[in-house]
Amino acid sequence: MSGGFKTTAMFVAAAVLLSACGGDDSDDSVALPLTLDQKVAAVTKASDITGDPTTGRVLPSISEPKAQLGMQLFFTKALGGDLDSACVSCHHPLLGGGDNLSLSIGVEAVLPDLLGPGREHRSDGHEFDGGPTVPRNAPSTFNIVFYDQVLFHDGRVESLDKANFNGAGDAIRTPDSAFGVADANAGANLSAAQARFPVTSPEEMRGHSFEAGNSNASLRIALEDRLKGEDMEMALAGMNDWLAAFQAGLEAPMGTAEQLITYDNIADALAAYQNSQVLVENPWKAYLAGDKSAISKDAKRGALLFYTPVEKGGAGCGGCHSGDFFTDEQFHVVGMPQVGRGKGDGVAVPHDNDYGRFRETNEDDDKFAFRTPHLLNVAKTGPWGHAGAYTSLEAVVRHHLNPQQAFDNYDLNQLAPFVQTDNIVANTQQALDQLEALRLAGKSSLVNAELSDEQVDQLLAFLHALTDPCLDDRDCMAKWIPGDDVPDPDGLRVHALGTL
Ligand code: HEC
Ligand code: HEC
Repeated sequence: MSGGFKTTAMFVAAAVLLSACGGDDSDDSVALPLTLDQKVAAVTKASDITGDPTTGRVLPSISEPKAQLGMQLFFTKALGGDLDSACVSCHHPLLGGGDNLSLSIGVEAVLPDLLGPGREHRSDGHEFDGGPTVPRNAPSTFNIVFYDQVLFHDGRVESLDKANFNGAGDAIRTPDSAFGVADANAGANLSAAQARFPVTSPEEMRGHSFEAGNSNASLRIALEDRLKGEDMEMALAGMNDWLAAFQAGLEAPMGTAEQLITYDNIADALAAYQNSQVLVENPWKAYLAGDKSAISKDAKRGALLFYTPVEKGGAGCGGCHSGDFFTDEQFHVVGMPQVGRGKGDGVAVPHDNDYGRFRETNEDDDKFAFRTPHLLNVAKTGPWGHAGAYTSLEAVVRHHLNPQQAFDNYDLNQLAPFVQTDNIVANTQQALDQLEALRLAGKSSLVNAELSDEQVDQLLAFLHALTDPCLDDRDCMAKWIPGDDVPDPDGLRVHALGTL
């Protein structure tokens, strides 16, 4: 490292000397080759990359009372209709903010407190077909505070005025409102708007009998009543200290249950907890802040490939994974394999395809388009893709280089044996054909790239440099996991089994 630095200093010194002697800087013939660090500096500057997505934002802290309340809510199965599923069931801090499963399993798990690999759906469960009943991969809740435009793989929670931080203070569309129309109850930001929905999904949290057939609004009222202690099942659970938890969390010691225990406040607190999960202290950030030895040479070469367009010999990743949050928050067709039970779309019976963004916009070009996910901590947030079809980071990176070829060589053995794959070929080929059609029409920015194995390794080294070491440090993560000192208001907290 220090050798490399000396060389840099010498080149700079020589350049200064040359231009001083020549007295005429129009002579290109004396231009010296740039060092690797200088090249990285040039491409990042050209793409407005600083390494720090936090600039200009006010970020909530986990020590704030509201975030503490949110943590208690995030971990309780009381928000699950049948008291068997919590937010944390699929978004655990020690699983990278996700569940490490291709497709999530929410209600009716064999062991509700067993999270991650090994979690399986009960065979006597509703709609059980052998595999997971949740049709998509659970994204990480870490760093969602940096999404300003859309949440969910298909962006069905979205800011209607894209310029604001986390949709704050402006109109937000949700599944409770029509496409393009603001949901008056969406709350203060995108995370709060999103937190209104997992409880409404029968597969994720609601179950198949709780408030069955009733509207989202009445379901949320039923959950409020439960936390207020007006619900028989919670009474049976033996304890209910939620009023004290809300009084502390909302800093309203005299507030009544009627005033404080509302779904708006539940969603707001869940958002405060999740928005405090800022995990951005990665080696790439340190490198761009000036520590030239923070990342390896391979990672630097990977960064160059990432930010250089395919036409210029790069991998062209920065076009979509743009900015310091590594996403344009737009939707693109990349044709990742379609596994799982899908969203009811497609020509093949049993309609286990997933049309992605098209489901919201009804625009033909959006068929099979999914949101560009951010890449912070991406090495820790597998499996990858909207349906978790890739279980290695290398495979999901290679997919981008040549989607058709990647799918032709797709190895089914990477999936857990129970993940549904009956129509994988027909469904995925439909997406790949759509990609081809968009390319022919000049509407795709995904360009096939031929990279050597060495270059793929360099891209991977770069992606690994986006991991905040906190993720591997139990003590560092502990603040987002309620310990014995944090009240468990209903005795329904998930205590993850096993090694978590
Ligand atoms: C059964 C597993 C499961 C449970 C339980 C669950 N989620 Fe999720 N979560 C998912 C899946 C799957 C998605 C992606 C769904 C989609 O995009 O259509 C998701 C998406 C999200 C997102 C969007 C992230 C992004 O990158 O856009 C947030 C935020 C989130 N969940 C928070 C929560 C909260 C808060 C709760 C509890 C109220 C919760 N989840 C409960 C599985 C789960
Ligand atoms: C045309 C836009 C586009 C380009 C260019 C692009 N990506 Fe992506 N990327 C996406 C989209 C969209 C997804 C999500 C697809 C899905 O979920 O089905 C994605 C997913 C990923 C994922 C999985 C993330 C996760 O959390 O599941 C990784 C890793 C990734 N891209 C890396 C790269 C790399 C490395 C490059 C350059 C070789 C690249 N991408 C180029 C749009 C793009």
